[in-house]
Amino acid sequence: MLNMDFSQKVVIHTQDQPWQESPSKGVWRKPLAREGIENGHATSLVRYDAGAGYTAHNHPGGEEIIVLEGIFSDENGDYPAGTYIRNPQGSHHQPFSQDGCVLLVKLNQFQRGDSAQIVIDTQRGEWFPGYAELKVMSLHTYQGISTSLVHWPAGTHFLPHSHAGGEEIFVLNGEFIDEHGRYSAGSWIRNPHMSKHDPYVEVDTTILVKVGHL
Ligand SMILES: [Fe+2]
Ligand SMILES: [Fe+2]
Repeated sequence: MLNMDFSQKVVIHTQDQPWQESPSKGVWRKPLAREGIENGHATSLVRYDAGAGYTAHNHPGGEEIIVLEGIFSDENGDYPAGTYIRNPQGSHHQPFSQDGCVLLVKLNQFQRGDSAQIVIDTQRGEWFPGYAELKVMSLHTYQGISTSLVHWPAGTHFLPHSHAGGEEIFVLNGEFIDEHGRYSAGSWIRNPHMSKHDPYVEVDTTILVKVGHL
């Protein structure tokens, strides 16, 4: 078990973590939270070397992916950096990467009944105005759990707030900051239910945010 107590705050600067071998040759991982080594709830960074592939598999608890670098592929298509993918229960595929890629993957975390198959190219998605100068691109919402991209222009200071249902953040670019620390691109933060902070940025920053699931 790794970081499976959701009442605890977790910060992992993944840029400082070593890649670990997976059972598939040329596929590497940085585990962030997981129930078992090869099953159950798992949140990880995953890297495919050029030409690497993974065995065909089902998604009994769903699979959520954001492509961070390169091009991820399966028999249904090619997904360049910035693609957000949800493969629900009942879906299956055989993924690979011709030239290599890096992904953030969340396995076995779908809510019951959440059966939408989703592919969003966030490079072409529409941004909507949020608080102050923030821009928000909503990616998925189901029964109180929401996932979005949030862009923070340099100098944006949000309001002090608490997180009913918790908040999970992956910093895609720039540097996210609050009174507890500084989180550069590649940092993963899990703020538990009813935690508080007062976030801001000094440089242009984009984060992936999931709320309501903790
Ligand atoms: Fe998969
Ligand atoms: Fe927050």
